[in-house]
Amino acid sequence: MSIAQRDLKKVTTNTIQEMKRKGEKISMLTAYDFTLAKMVDSAGIDVILVGDSASNVMAGHQTTLPITLDEMIYHASSVVRAATRSLVVVDMPFGTYQGNSKEALSSAIRIMKESGGHSVKLEGGEEILESVKRIISAGIPVMGHLGLIPQSIYKFGTFTVRAKEEEEADQLRKDAKLLEAAGCFAIVLEKIPAKLAKEIAELVNIPVIGIGAGGDVDGQVLVLHDMLGMTHKFNPRFLRRYLNLYEDITGAIHQYIDDVKSSDFPNEKEQY
Ligand code: KIV
Repeated sequence: MSIAQRDLKKVTTNTIQEMKRKGEKISMLTAYDFTLAKMVDSAGIDVILVGDSASNVMAGHQTTLPITLDEMIYHASSVVRAATRSLVVVDMPFGTYQGNSKEALSSAIRIMKESGGHSVKLEGGEEILESVKRIISAGIPVMGHLGLIPQSIYKFGTFTVRAKEEEEADQLRKDAKLLEAAGCFAIVLEKIPAKLAKEIAELVNIPVIGIGAGGDVDGQVLVLHDMLGMTHKFNPRFLRRYLNLYEDITGAIHQYIDDVKSSDFPNEKEQY
């Protein structure tokens, strides 16, 4: 099948599971608004994540904790309007699923109904399993997220690599198996040793998508604004920058200011 033919097909949770079976890598990027989501979708990305990293990237918070369910629904509905092909996964924000599986289900239902997203993502393993099962039992696909889970940053106290010690690595293996058994369609592994990520990708039959987890997993995810170089003070080792838009955009804005101040803009052709 040619790429052009395949591109016409909508990506579903089944598609990415099939990709794992065939050994085809899964591409995933974040998006939080219509305009960038349109570009990401048209470029042919497999999965768009409406990440709660919107809390940092769009709202300027220090952590992902403050973003609300209403705000996530706003971002997700903008992305869904742009996505004609990609599978849209929406992060469930902090405080909407931990501890109470009934509340978790209501939050997930609001995301699906009000944004039109195709699935949700939750951070954690054994401790949130009841919520995961309840959401899946309502027919909502769930992506898991293990390793460095930013909603637990105050528990970790640091953004350094997780599961370097055997005890935490063992819990991670156990959590991955539990999420698979609960019916998750995929798992994100964030910032863990590449060797452990490879082992987990082999241990479970569902796709494992890495960020800072090495190349021997089933796919990769990055925050769009980081890989485009729109953010510039965040430089983890795992980040590959494909553009330096921070400099390009501020350069263009400097030029605009100069043109306005010098009365170069607008010129005769730029007026009525
Ligand atoms: O919120 C987010 O952007 C994420 C990715 C880093 C996986 O969860």
